[in-house]
Amino acid sequence: MIDLLGEMRRTHNCNELTAKDVGQQVVLMGWVQRRRDHGGVIFVDLRDREGITQVVFNPAIDSEMHDKAHGIRNEYVIGILGKVEVRPEGMKNENLTTGEIEVAVIELKILNISKPAPFLIEDTAEVSENVRLTYRHLDLRRPKMQKNIIFRHKAAASIRQYLNRCGFLEIETPVLTRSTPEGARDYLVPSRVNPGQFFALPQSPQIFKQLLMISGFDRYYQIVRCFRDEDLRADRQPEFTQVDMEMSFVGENDVMETSEGMMASLFQEVLGISLKLPFLRLSYPEAISRYGLDKPDVRFGLELKDISDIVEKSGFKVFSAAVEKGGIVKALNAKGCSHFSRKEIDDFTEFISVYRAKGLAWIKVKDDAWQSPITKFFTDKEKDALSKRLDMAPGDLVFFVADQPKIVNEALGHLRNHLGRTLGLIDEKALSFIWVTGFPLLEYDETEKRYQAMHHPFTSPVEEDYHLLEENPLAVKSRAYDLVLNGMEVGGGSIRNHQALLQERVFKALGMGAEVYQEKFGFLLSALETGAPPHGGIAFGFDRLVMILCAQTSIREVIAFPKTQKASCLLTQAPSEVSGAQLEELFLKKVL
Ligand code: AMO
Ligand code: AMP
Repeated sequence: MIDLLGEMRRTHNCNELTAKDVGQQVVLMGWVQRRRDHGGVIFVDLRDREGITQVVFNPAIDSEMHDKAHGIRNEYVIGILGKVEVRPEGMKNENLTTGEIEVAVIELKILNISKPAPFLIEDTAEVSENVRLTYRHLDLRRPKMQKNIIFRHKAAASIRQYLNRCGFLEIETPVLTRSTPEGARDYLVPSRVNPGQFFALPQSPQIFKQLLMISGFDRYYQIVRCFRDEDLRADRQPEFTQVDMEMSFVGENDVMETSEGMMASLFQEVLGISLKLPFLRLSYPEAISRYGLDKPDVRFGLELKDISDIVEKSGFKVFSAAVEKGGIVKALNAKGCSHFSRKEIDDFTEFISVYRAKGLAWIKVKDDAWQSPITKFFTDKEKDALSKRLDMAPGDLVFFVADQPKIVNEALGHLRNHLGRTLGLIDEKALSFIWVTGFPLLEYDETEKRYQAMHHPFTSPVEEDYHLLEENPLAVKSRAYDLVLNGMEVGGGSIRNHQALLQERVFKALGMGAEVYQEKFGFLLSALETGAPPHGGIAFGFDRLVMILCAQTSIREVIAFPKTQKASCLLTQAPSEVSGAQLEELFLKKVL
């Protein structure tokens, strides 16, 4: 037999051939999705990243080749030379681009065999995530994963094109660097040539992008890997990708408008959706007051109401005592939910206990009266006021939490999201972008007993509040902004301190002595002293954006090789032990 395929190149991908190609001789290569033996004629669905083409082995054409086709199995890699033919009537498949045709094989080449895969390479295959991640190279062959990863590429390409058009320069920054304070733990890398010293993997390129502004590279961007050793969730990975940018001579509105333009062009190009610009803006205090969270999901109502003033003197001690101790009482009216059982309410109580709420009080509004263990504590006047403020009508179920503001807002904010989801109040197709602005510059960390930056320490305070930096740091507002999409933080940034003196005042407000900040950030301070332009920027969580673009609920679905919840890679078994010799070379000793 002549090895025709040996010299031939692939002519088409597996999603390309249609009725207009009938009669052509073609060469296809790919994986065997399925082989069906129809008493003599063998059909194979040949798959590549673009799609599927049916190829047919007919013993009448070449019996030797047909015999060989008997031996092929799922996931074998084959090449075929054949002729495009119209499928017989009744055999057409409208769901496939190539559904009108099939390729009658003249020559088959088995390029590689495959052991049986641990799961079917199909979207519908039910496989645990651990198995998927262990055989990620096979999991990635599934059409859905191929689509997600291709989407990711398209999104990155679209973002690059937009930013290039806007005059941004893509500049790389180091991966082996010093600690950048973004609020998570660092991944450390020991230095062999500097015994006892460590690099930190960047939590973001924050300081480098500011240095680039000082160098005069106005308008920088980078699609860049960041590393944060933090507790993992569906939307958090230890290494993740940011679309990071920085601009000189700008204020908040310039950065926000550029970001909006980037989102509009991304959604238009990748999904064909026109976003309405500008995005809504909400101040941090308003977000917390109405939704309890600084990343509010505004696709549905169920807003929170503060009722502290109504219940501060009430006979229900849980409420009055909370207010007396400087706390608040807030409520959420779950309209039409009075049918919830005690068990369901107990589950909600359990749900909010994660946010340190000590309890969940409730009132069911029945036609004639309120049904609740706490009704008896309220006067008629208090009841009237509650009823009015909370718009209570028969059929409603009202939840209350009393505690310190942070706990109340977090507990009810998350309960609100939980109810929104479980009650089906969320329009899953909606794309609800919202800017949150006016964050405080600092917050007080109760466990660490110190101030910390809400965003990061390089964020500028608003000018009106400079004078409060020393006397009342918690009252200082910052020039930071977050972009929230459907209740998820997809981006965050700020206008920076471009003057060394202001940056030093912020470091001091954070409780750092001059010795500490000089040791950690002296290089930045001295750079700021050499003609730093006003500058600001933002970074977007690229994985989160792609996840939303692909309508997925975990970023692991849009990352080729993600880590597990325990920050390990099941495919390569990383992290792993290293040899004693390697440790010695790095001057490290195991203590475990
Ligand atoms: P920030 O810390 O807000 O800002 O990060 C920017 C965006 O990155 C995404 N993100 C993550 N995505 C997946 N896994 C994680 N572990 C993770 N952590 C953050 C979020 C977030 O909004 N240097 C600043 C930006 C700036 O000021 O310009 C920064 O890193 O979507
Ligand atoms: P207790 O008096 O502790 O039995 O609580 C009576 C009701 O108030 C129960 O439904 C508790 O869940 C609720 N409760 C207790 N503590 C709080 C709190 N801090 N905020 C809201 N409700 C609470």
